[in-house]
Amino acid sequence: MHNDLEKILFTEQEIANRVKEMADVINKDFENRPITLVVILKGSAIFAADLVRHLTSDIDIEFIRLSSYGNGSVSSQKVDIIGGLNFDVNGKNIIVVEDIIDTGTTLSKFKEIILSQNPESLKICSLLNKPARRVSVIEADYKGFDIENEFVVGYGLDYAQKYRNLPYIGVLKRSVYEK
Ligand code: XMP
Ligand code: MG
Repeated sequence: MHNDLEKILFTEQEIANRVKEMADVINKDFENRPITLVVILKGSAIFAADLVRHLTSDIDIEFIRLSSYGNGSVSSQKVDIIGGLNFDVNGKNIIVVEDIIDTGTTLSKFKEIILSQNPESLKICSLLNKPARRVSVIEADYKGFDIENEFVVGYGLDYAQKYRNLPYIGVLKRSVYEK
């Protein structure tokens, strides 16, 4: 385990199993209807890469960046799409892929933007869910794991851009972000 971590929450194998289960549910729901995956960079890229390889529909992948966190561990309120929404949503089956829903602010604002463009359908797929800090009313349609109110890193999730490459998900030591 990385020295900056307090404990591992989900091992590489546990994540792989859960991602496969999530994909199975999506495959059942969509019955091979085409899907546009909208991947929220950077955190969700690794999750999306694993998820997409289990999906059986025709898949179109779009990547977007939302401004939110900066380098800290406290969510900011304002949400902007960096570079704007530069793909067609109208009439598409959209699945937004997110690494974690925390306060819910990011996704609820982004959901409004997508809905205003008349998709055929819109679903939210989040690997992690941190219900303790929820401010906005939003739930994922496809959800990997519920976690406690702890700051987690690994498998795409970062602290100040570090730890994304860890194959597991773990809790960051407080001493790392409080120093
Ligand atoms: P909100 O609060 O808008 O934020 O739901 C979602 C975004 O906040 C980031 N986030 C985290 N990133 N470990 C991380 O690496 C965490 O424990 C954590 N909690 C929230 C993440 O970027 C997510 O997209
Ligand atoms: Mg993120």
